[in-house]
Amino acid sequence: MAVKRSDALVVFGATGDLAHKMIFPSLYQMVRRGHLSEPVIGVALDDWDVERLAERARDGIAKQFGTIDEAIFVRLKALLRYVSGDYKSAATFATLRETLGKASRPLYYLAIPPSLFGTVIDALKAVGIAETARLMVEKPFGRDLASAKALNGVLRAVFEEDMVFRIDHFLGKEAVQNLIYFRFANAFLEPVWNRTHVESVQITMAEDFGITGRGKFYDEVGCIRDVIQNHLVQVLLLLAMEPPVSSESDDLSDEKVQILKAIRPLTRRNLVRGQFKGYRDEPGVAPGSTVETFAAVRLFVDTWRWKDVPFYIRAGKNLPVRATEVVVRFRRPPVALFDDVPTSDANYVRFRVGPQVGIGIGARRKAPGGEMTGENVELDAVDDTTDDMIPYERLIGDAMNGRRQLFTRQDAAELAWRVFDPVLDLTDQPAPYAPGTWGPADSMKDFAPPGGWVDPQP
Ligand code: BG6
Repeated sequence: MAVKRSDALVVFGATGDLAHKMIFPSLYQMVRRGHLSEPVIGVALDDWDVERLAERARDGIAKQFGTIDEAIFVRLKALLRYVSGDYKSAATFATLRETLGKASRPLYYLAIPPSLFGTVIDALKAVGIAETARLMVEKPFGRDLASAKALNGVLRAVFEEDMVFRIDHFLGKEAVQNLIYFRFANAFLEPVWNRTHVESVQITMAEDFGITGRGKFYDEVGCIRDVIQNHLVQVLLLLAMEPPVSSESDDLSDEKVQILKAIRPLTRRNLVRGQFKGYRDEPGVAPGSTVETFAAVRLFVDTWRWKDVPFYIRAGKNLPVRATEVVVRFRRPPVALFDDVPTSDANYVRFRVGPQVGIGIGARRKAPGGEMTGENVELDAVDDTTDDMIPYERLIGDAMNGRRQLFTRQDAAELAWRVFDPVLDLTDQPAPYAPGTWGPADSMKDFAPPGGWVDPQP
């Protein structure tokens, strides 16, 4: 049976930050490309009207793109509706039902704290507008395995799994899509993509800013929960998974789940935690906070393909640059014909995931001249392509069309916590590091892939 497109989009949390920064700019782009003509109903507690919501949307769009095309904005505004009300009140949902009118297959986007999911979902069911609807939920998806399971229980009490869309916005990034495309659209990688040839894999997500304005949120979360357990593990899965039998969503999820099951739960020995100096003076942060703003982890994927190949992930706030990058490093040639072949940093595949998109292949070539000495070169497959689609645009569009490839299935969402559960609630003091450096130098001294870390360039 053909999957039907949603006939309305309902955004809970429409007056909030995410809607302002990401959702409205995405909707504007969708209108610009002719990808959105259905009603968009904002819901929130604030006593606003649709005019005020539109002004807020305009502000977010202008900030995101620097300019606004009035003709497109007018078309977006014509789609907007607003329902103001308390999520605890049945009247709010009665008004929503009225506003939906003839729409029978809405997409409900919960851009609200997870603690409110249950209240909203139950109310949707109670007024009879949950059946045949889709549900899209924002991160954080739980705080650990137990809470993720409980949250799934709340969603699944009303919505079938194929109607639930769990967002990880990294999966909506052009470069992350290119990663899986490059891997499986080229046959030449497959013979070397395994423990025989790959020495290590490293994933770095560096951010050159702190937690400005998000102290309270961040201090309850920390680096592992914020970006490693979700975004960077998703990147790891795309690198490590077996080729799926098709590009259907369940086939992709099946392969990801196999890898998640094979990752050894993290131990303390395979983790470095850091905290930038000054973090505890940030507004919203507890004075003696032991929350990490930097983490480096070493994971092992116990499959035939990857046994004993270390997968390193490091991420942090207030590092020297803003860049996310993957380096898959190959073993050195078995025999050194030339004296100068360096130990292990010459052959690799580098995926630049952000802010630009890039793929590079590292190789050695002879340097011109009389000597048989060489130099490292990088062959660029893609370079500096900017991502013109905000991940949220892609994700909202896909959810409205019922395409599930970029969303996380229930079992995958839970299994990702299983890996990190043993180290989520450590209370020892993370090692301090100076803002603008690559994390706590002393602790990181012996914690690196063979051949060392590759620090992404700005
Ligand atoms: C969010 C995290 O999920 O991802 C932030 O909460 C982080 O702390 C952000 O800065 C990074 O996303 P992007 O798309 O800017 O790389």
